[in-house]
Order: sequence, then structure tokens, then C-alpha cells
Amino acid sequence: MMSAQVETRGAVTLTDRLADAAPAAVEVCNFNVRFSAEVLAVQDASLMVRPGEFVSIVGPSGCGKTTLLNHAAGLLPAEVCSGIFKVNGRQPREGSHDVAYMLARDALCPWRTALGNAELGAEIRGVAAAERRALARDLLAQVGLAGFEDAYPKALSQGMRQRVALARTFCLDSPLLLMDEPFGALDAQTKLQLEDVLLSLWEKTRRTVLFVTHDLSEAVCMSDRVIVMTARPGRILADVRIDLERPRSARSLQKDPRFHELCGELWAKLEEGMTT
Ligand SMILES: Nc1ncnc2c1ncn2[C@@H]1O[C@H](COP(=O)(O)OP(=O)(O)OP(=O)(O)O)[C@@H](O)[C@H]1O
Ligand SMILES: [Mg+2]
Repeated sequence: MMSAQVETRGAVTLTDRLADAAPAAVEVCNFNVRFSAEVLAVQDASLMVRPGEFVSIVGPSGCGKTTLLNHAAGLLPAEVCSGIFKVNGRQPREGSHDVAYMLARDALCPWRTALGNAELGAEIRGVAAAERRALARDLLAQVGLAGFEDAYPKALSQGMRQRVALARTFCLDSPLLLMDEPFGALDAQTKLQLEDVLLSLWEKTRRTVLFVTHDLSEAVCMSDRVIVMTARPGRILADVRIDLERPRSARSLQKDPRFHELCGELWAKLEEGMTT
């Protein structure tokens, strides 16, 4: 299933073998996206993501990372795509409850409070008011915003707004979370804090995550595997297993030699991908 040039590493455990028996959360096989005669955005991508895996995608700007997430969310027209791409065994479809999509910019509604924003996705999906409000309130507490339920986005810092966006994403019951550089606009300190918040939310529910980032340290710290793409047309160059123990803390990992070793390996791969 995986293309021949893709590298995998690390020992296969019993958990891996059991997970292999489960249906794939995301299955991509010989997948291409051609936007025009000149622009082949993704070329011959093959990738399997198991339920509950946290997988990051890194690669040079314009290599098709957002394109892959957009397709997983059913946002690409069928005519630009070829090959196989399945989410939970199905063709991606816009508006599907299979996925929740979180972007770099928080995209909060300025006229809604933190609570109103956190519950918005669930509201659109028709979850009963009392149920979604209780869940949103609980998630706001988990992301460190207890007491800010009634605050409007203009009264929140960028980091706080991304906390609300995280709460909103986890308020949805989607098994697959798509995250496109969710912390890309944050300063280094806030980013580490938000990475820890995301790690703790994910540890509790172990949903499948496809996470795009330009920050290799972030990719290593969060992920079970990191997919490295080449410059456009984006091909998958490497699939690197991150063998750091969980639960993890982004801040503690900064002192872990294995963490830095993995970051170095990814840098080397990324550089290779710039020129191939
Ligand atoms: N809707 C579209 N129509 C035409 N071309 C597109 C469209 N979306 C993306 N592209 C092109 O496809 C290529 C991949 O774009 P994409 O946004 O997926 O890159 P990316 O890897 O997410 O880059 P970045 O790291 O800068 O966010 C780019 O050349 C882009 O111009
Ligand atoms: Mg992008």
C-alpha cells in the first residue's frame, strides 16, 4: 500500500498489530491533485492512518499539505483529484460529521461569547442546547478558560482565542480532527502551552488527528508519526515514527536528547525534500 520510497522506522508492537486489524481512519493510495495543467499540487501520495493516531504532515510551502486536509474535509472538487482517498472507509464529503477542521486563524464569531463560540459547531450539528453547553463549558475549563465563558473574542488574547477554537473542535464528536497550523500565529511560549493543552485533550479521547505544521519540533512533540513531503508537486518522502513515550509534555521534551535527535533527522529529510 505504501509507496516504495517511503521510509518507516521503529519496532512493530502488539498494539500496532491489533490496530492494523481495525479499519483505517484515513486511507490514501496513489492520490493526485491537479488544479491546472501547470499546477500538480499532490503527486502519487499513499498514506494509512490508524484510528487514534496523531499524524503530522510537514513539507515546504506549497507542497500540498492544506490541499490534503481540504480534501479530507470534502472541500476539493472531484475533477481535480484522482486515486483513492477515504476517511473512515468513505469518500470525503463536505459537511460530514466524520471530520472537524481547525485552522491557523481562530475564526471565532466576534458576536458570540467564548461559550457561544465553543458550542457553535455542535449547535450547527443539531446537538441539544443543554448537552452542548455543558460540554462546551467543560472543555473551556480543560483548555484553561474557566471564568471566561462570557467573554467576547475582542477581550481575549490570540492564545486564548486559539484555546476557544480548540474547545470548539473537541466539542464535536468527529473521529477525525484536521488541524492546519493551529498554533502557527502564536509566540513560542504560548505555542508550547497550547501544545500541552492539545496533548492533554487528545490523551483523554485519542481521536485521530491529521496535523499540519511548519514547526518540526512541534511535529515531533505531538505525533506518533511525521509525514515529510517534497516540494511541489508534493510527494511523500518519509514516514517517520516518533518513539517518544506518552503522555508527553511539550515543555519537558525540550530537555530530552531523543527529541532533539528526531528533530535533526526530520530536518535532514525536509532538506532532502527541498531538492528532490
Ligand atoms: N483551490 C486552488 N486552486 C488552484 N490552485 C490551488 C488551490 N489550492 C491550492 N492550490 C495550489 O496548490 C499548491 C499547494 O497548495 P497548498 O495550500 O496545499 O500548500 P501548503 O503545503 O499548504 O503550503 P503552505 O505551507 O504555504 O500553507 C500551491 O501551488 C497552490 O497554489
Ligand atoms: Mg497550507
